[in-house]
Amino acid sequence: MKQLEFAAHSPQRHRHPARAPALTAEARRTMNLRVAAVSDQTKAVVEKSVRVELGARAYDIFLGAGLLSSIGPRCAALPNAHAALVVSDENVAPHYLDSVLASLRCAGLRAESEVLPPGEATKSEPYLFRLYRRAVASGLDRSGLFVALGGGVIGDLAGFAAATFLRGVRYVQIPTTLLAMVDSSVGGKTAIDLPEGKNLVGAFHQPALVIADTDTLRTLPPREFASGMAEVIKYGVIRDAALFEFLESAFPSLSNAGVGALTEIIARCCRIKAEVVQADERESGPRAILNFGHTVGHAIEALAGFDRLRHGEAIAIGMVFAARVSERLRGWPPSDTRRLTALLRRFGLPTEPPEGMGWVDVQRVMAVDKKVGSGRPRFVLGDRIGHVESGCAADDGLLEEVWCHGGRQ
Ligand SMILES: NC(=O)c1ccc[n+]([C@@H]2O[C@H](COP(=O)([O-])OP(=O)(O)OC[C@H]3O[C@@H](n4cnc5c(N)ncnc54)[C@H](O)[C@@H]3O)[C@@H](O)[C@H]2O)c1
Ligand SMILES: [Zn+2]
Repeated sequence: MKQLEFAAHSPQRHRHPARAPALTAEARRTMNLRVAAVSDQTKAVVEKSVRVELGARAYDIFLGAGLLSSIGPRCAALPNAHAALVVSDENVAPHYLDSVLASLRCAGLRAESEVLPPGEATKSEPYLFRLYRRAVASGLDRSGLFVALGGGVIGDLAGFAAATFLRGVRYVQIPTTLLAMVDSSVGGKTAIDLPEGKNLVGAFHQPALVIADTDTLRTLPPREFASGMAEVIKYGVIRDAALFEFLESAFPSLSNAGVGALTEIIARCCRIKAEVVQADERESGPRAILNFGHTVGHAIEALAGFDRLRHGEAIAIGMVFAARVSERLRGWPPSDTRRLTALLRRFGLPTEPPEGMGWVDVQRVMAVDKKVGSGRPRFVLGDRIGHVESGCAADDGLLEEVWCHGGRQ
């Protein structure tokens, strides 16, 4: 099996030649993934798929190395699909756009593209309208596809364009960041930002297909990869103690983990997200467990400035905070907090609030966050790694104390 070179993603201090241990039998049993080994002429491709069962809106997530070339046939297999508008950004397009366009055209689809500047600022009104106009100019009709080739910014923007163009057309997610592979490309939340706040205008609109080619992660900057790892670790904390243990044992030697292990990890995260979304497509209740670490994390992200802290970095701090609050309120073992901080730090993720960020400010930002119900912030708290619950209230004094004193009681 081909081995991915992920050395660049590991912090220098961890670069040692230890081999990643294989998945334990228990981990394999519980994974319950459909695994198909597919070969093409040049290399063995490990491919997994996860089905998101949502009745008429059900779709498949295909994961693995070398999948970009399968995009054309897979899109062509969607009913009545003849034309696609591929949306990407200036960092991603030079690496992958030609392959995607070639694959689509080869499969008989009419394919055009629109390449936008990278960064959160692109998830906004001017670029949304640029996409609408581009879609009109390229003759996209109700049967046309938007194809989002990029990270969460491109996925959210193109997804929202698809949700609203001609009152809704289909779209395909081709996530190229780890965060987009495990989180934003699955579940159908699409949005743009307003100057007043993030994701304030959006729609639930499920993709028709998700294709995550892990080879695209080779060009992802290390800091972006680490940010995605925060979400991977989150899945372990909220639902999957075996995944958490596997991450502890397999990393930091991601360089040796190989394409199989990485694909398996991403697939496992997607499966958890799929299960949660299936149970609560429009986030009326149980889906909120995906927000572990996010109540405070979002506030930290906004206060620090979106360009200073990556989303996963803010969430890493938020998760440690939530673990410490869980210690006080839910009997969460302090040893689990130590395991969480140790794992986050291995990926160079922060675990303590930025210097000088006060609780009063965090509280103020949390109060205007749309996830705050009935005036009081609600938290996702846990009993232990692998088991959390949403909708938990916590006393202000206790929250402030945990914020100010961290792990010290
Ligand atoms: N819809 C959802 O459920 C959901 C969930 C989580 C986050 N989000 C949204 O996702 C966005 C963040 O997504 P993100 O972290 O992927 O950020 P991003 O899309 O900005 O990508 C991060 C950076 O990496 C670059 N990049 C992407 N793929 C690359 C590759 N393969 N090689 C080289 N460079 C590459 C991008 O150009 C960008 O500069 C936020 O807007 C957030 O609100 C949405
Ligand atoms: Zn997140």
